[in-house]
Amino acid sequence: MKVLIVGDVVGRPGLNKLKEKLDQYMVEEKIDFCIVNGENAANGRGIRVKEYQEILSYGADAITMGNHIYYRKEMTQEYAKLKRLVIPANVTNLVGNGYIVVEKNKRKIAVINLIGKFGMGDMFEKNTSDPFEKIMEILEELKEVDYIFLDFHAEATAEKIAMRLFLEGKISCIYGTHTHVQTADEMIRQGTAYITDVGMTGPLDSVIGLKKEIALKRFIGKERAKYECSENEACFNAIIVEYDDKTKKAVSIKRIYD
Ligand SMILES: [Fe+2]
Ligand SMILES: [Fe+2]
Repeated sequence: MKVLIVGDVVGRPGLNKLKEKLDQYMVEEKIDFCIVNGENAANGRGIRVKEYQEILSYGADAITMGNHIYYRKEMTQEYAKLKRLVIPANVTNLVGNGYIVVEKNKRKIAVINLIGKFGMGDMFEKNTSDPFEKIMEILEELKEVDYIFLDFHAEATAEKIAMRLFLEGKISCIYGTHTHVQTADEMIRQGTAYITDVGMTGPLDSVIGLKKEIALKRFIGKERAKYECSENEACFNAIIVEYDDKTKKAVSIKRIYD
């Protein structure tokens, strides 16, 4: 089985690039299953039903989220209804799927989303349970599946590496999202594929998706300039992981920065 995992899709430039590159890679690489992080799809902040539908229409099988779950107030009533949307399972004040199981071509594939504890902001300090405890609870419920993918949405590289050490040999893939910068540490340990961050499918000439002029005002000046998603050309950041269907172990992991 070959799985394509796409890093945080940011705004219209990211969505356009996603369409172009899924059209290409799904065929060229004979992809069986595709997971996209969509937490920045709606103009850089959160996701709406229309972006959810758009991403699925391009060929994604599951969409994961992250800290942007609070930006779209109207969406808090919708998350639980969207069958292919996964929100962080350890967020305690929102209702939605913390994991989903998708059956495709006779394979049962679980997709989990968790959020880190470090550097994610006040809202998460108060409303997030321990991701390490939460994943053990979820794995107890997932005894009957063939493959398990975890999108660990976290700021701290150390926390993501600790999650790898905690889970290697137990699940199919642990990958980081959220920093929007792809790391070059992809590896396979005990049949588990891992990368600290998949990166961003969004405007390269920006500050992780934010219009660069605004980002500079925020960093250099004292002005709390209003968020605006960059409209510059996007880059496609992803990984492709291949599995042996007999052993269910990862045999290769490849980074894409296109
Ligand atoms: Fe993001
Ligand atoms: Fe994020």
